[in-house]
Amino acid sequence: MSHTDFSQKIIAWQQVHGRHQLPWQNTHDAYAIWVSEIMLQQTQVQAVIAYYQRFMQRFPDVQALAAAPQEEVMRYWSGLGYYSRARNLHDAAQKIVDEFAGQFPQQMPDILSLPGIGRSTAAAITAFAFEQQQAILDGNVKRIFARHFLIQGWPGQPKIEKQMWQLAEQLLPHKNIVAYTQGLMDLGATLCTRSKPRCIECPIQSSCQAYAQQMVAILPTSKPKKSLPQKHTVMLIVLDGDEVLLEKRPPSGIWGGLWSLPEISAQEIPDQVLQTRFALQAQASEPLAEVPHSFTHYKLNIIPQPMHLSERAPQAHAPQLLWLPLHEAVNAAIPTPVRKILLNLIQPV
Ligand code: ADE
Repeated sequence: MSHTDFSQKIIAWQQVHGRHQLPWQNTHDAYAIWVSEIMLQQTQVQAVIAYYQRFMQRFPDVQALAAAPQEEVMRYWSGLGYYSRARNLHDAAQKIVDEFAGQFPQQMPDILSLPGIGRSTAAAITAFAFEQQQAILDGNVKRIFARHFLIQGWPGQPKIEKQMWQLAEQLLPHKNIVAYTQGLMDLGATLCTRSKPRCIECPIQSSCQAYAQQMVAILPTSKPKKSLPQKHTVMLIVLDGDEVLLEKRPPSGIWGGLWSLPEISAQEIPDQVLQTRFALQAQASEPLAEVPHSFTHYKLNIIPQPMHLSERAPQAHAPQLLWLPLHEAVNAAIPTPVRKILLNLIQPV
């Protein structure tokens, strides 16, 4: 498969199956294209269309935008989100009026000097408006490349991104740059989607390496997850014969309102806490093996701490305390890792 085949297939497919009637198409007005590209960052076409039309009616050219108060520009953007896009757009319009005589610049370095315009957006504008041979590389294109050329590794990684930019430039066609650029966007948005891609209809399926190797679903490689912070806590296992001491957790916070084993921090001394908080005489023995539990934002390692009562316990004296036989406790409203600890006392694994 040559580079020419790739781009020719994208162009031919775009001409027949691509989108041709979006409000920012069929124009060479760089201002109109620029506004659309900024709105379309991180935002779906369907959400953008109405905003785009309203915005262009009120600010039909760069002069109108530059002359407007920022407050009014923000009102027209209100609801689209990522508001720094609107502030940058407004600032850039004033810069175009002041420094480029009100004409959207045609040279890459000039375009890149405008706030809010990165390499891919600048390339899209120059390809669409001036039919310059410039390569785009947004999230959709990264996904197409990762799959078609079987590029493994997270595309946000500088090494992978550099490789993809090189590829993007090598693949550029010598003509039909508008159809090609739009074709990559259309393919990524309609067929080569992140989930449920429609490979059967794809114009480059026969040369797609991920398709051939059944790796479409796992490409592009996702961003590596940050390792979660680790926290430790100590849970006291106070047994009186067959009965275990449970404490109701405060209504808010993790496991709010559930029954649980009495919890202390790793700095506290278990014997003292039992004395002061529960009026119980007991001695700690060797802690049991840690029980890990994952939350969305951290990992909790529970240290189960068995306690040996010096005398039989009096009845629980406070409403947030409860003695329950182990076999009942495991069926009570308790957190999963606490159930795990209790089940292990009944039937050690
Ligand atoms: N996303 C970014 N630019 C686009 C365009 N020109 N058409 C459709 N979706 C897009």
